[in-house]
Amino acid sequence: KNQTLTDTFGRHHDYLRISLTERCNLRCQYCMPAEGVKLSEKSKILTTDEIIQIADLFVNEGVKKIRLTGGEPTTRKDLTDIITQLKQLNGLECVAMTTNGLVLTRQLVALQKAGLDILNISLDTINKSRYEKITRRKGLERVLMGIDLALQLDYNPVKINCVVIKNFNEDEILDFVEMTKEKNVDVRFIEYMPFSGNKWEVDKMVSYKEMLDIIHKKWPEFSPLPNGKNDTSKAWKVPGYKGQVGFITSMSEHFCGSCNRLRITADGNLKVCLFGNTEVSLRDAIRSKCSQDDLVALVQAAVKRKKKQHAGMLNLSQMENRPMILIGG
Ligand code: GTP
Ligand code: 5AD
Ligand code: SF4
Repeated sequence: KNQTLTDTFGRHHDYLRISLTERCNLRCQYCMPAEGVKLSEKSKILTTDEIIQIADLFVNEGVKKIRLTGGEPTTRKDLTDIITQLKQLNGLECVAMTTNGLVLTRQLVALQKAGLDILNISLDTINKSRYEKITRRKGLERVLMGIDLALQLDYNPVKINCVVIKNFNEDEILDFVEMTKEKNVDVRFIEYMPFSGNKWEVDKMVSYKEMLDIIHKKWPEFSPLPNGKNDTSKAWKVPGYKGQVGFITSMSEHFCGSCNRLRITADGNLKVCLFGNTEVSLRDAIRSKCSQDDLVALVQAAVKRKKKQHAGMLNLSQMENRPMILIGG
């Protein structure tokens, strides 16, 4: 078996997350500072061809799943074109996207036609004024319509990512669980994670255990389901409900041991860990016309430098890293 994407702890990486843009049509508080972030010059952002070239290299080395992220991936004009070309890569099994859902009613039919297999939508609140507070923009109605459209178009299930923040939306946990009663959605509650400029504090976090307690008070029968070997989320369900619930416990119970994910930033850096700041520029390598073998060697060396696990919650909050908007989750 090809070892290029296997690290020194035996983890094989077959899932690549590609950030398509640093731009976003929202300004979520946990993702970027109020003043925004300094964007890279346009010339530093990967072109359509460069994205496909990098994807092709990783698929050749064993990547089976590519997820498109951002910023907000739907703000990129060549998105359908990128999906179409990714779908032609031999060996790639699935193309996924994580979006804020704002423009799905306008774009999803075309994205599905291009071949988008899996759709994750970020939604932290179903309260209009809270939505406008957390995202610093309007749009809740459009996101809810986007979710319903995705269900109609047979994205089964539609995954909904909900970052839970103490004294902000923890009182909506039960409402989100209730959404799984009639809809085939997989609501995933995410522990709030620290990134540069997002004002993370330990006291703003709601842990997996706390969330379970809240849910069990209303649904004592709420129970765990089996998980896939590389799942980021721990699956649960209210018996009899159509959808399910998941918990992404990056802070209280990290899942680094089964990590199979690598990342490409919009400006072309390979990032081997969400919380690692060692990065290497594949963009510069490609633009300097380095050979395919050298490119593979560069990737392999970076993968071999991947640490066993992230540094722990409090260390992470001190660590230099990109703001989330420049990583893509
Ligand atoms: P699926 O492939 O559908 O399971 O989605 P995913 O969880 O891989 O991706 P998504 O973009 O929906 O991310 C959901 C949350 O999981 C975000 O908050 C991500 O930051 C977090 N996440 C994804 N991958 C990792 C990872 O490797 N490590 C950590 N700590 N968090 C991750
Ligand atoms: N902590 C946890 N999750 C986050 N996301 C963005 N910022 C954070 C954070 N600080 C989530 C978004 C999106 C996914 C890619 O990452 O809600 O769904
Ligand atoms: Fe935009 Fe997503 Fe970041 Fe919110 S979380 S600011 S929607 S990229």
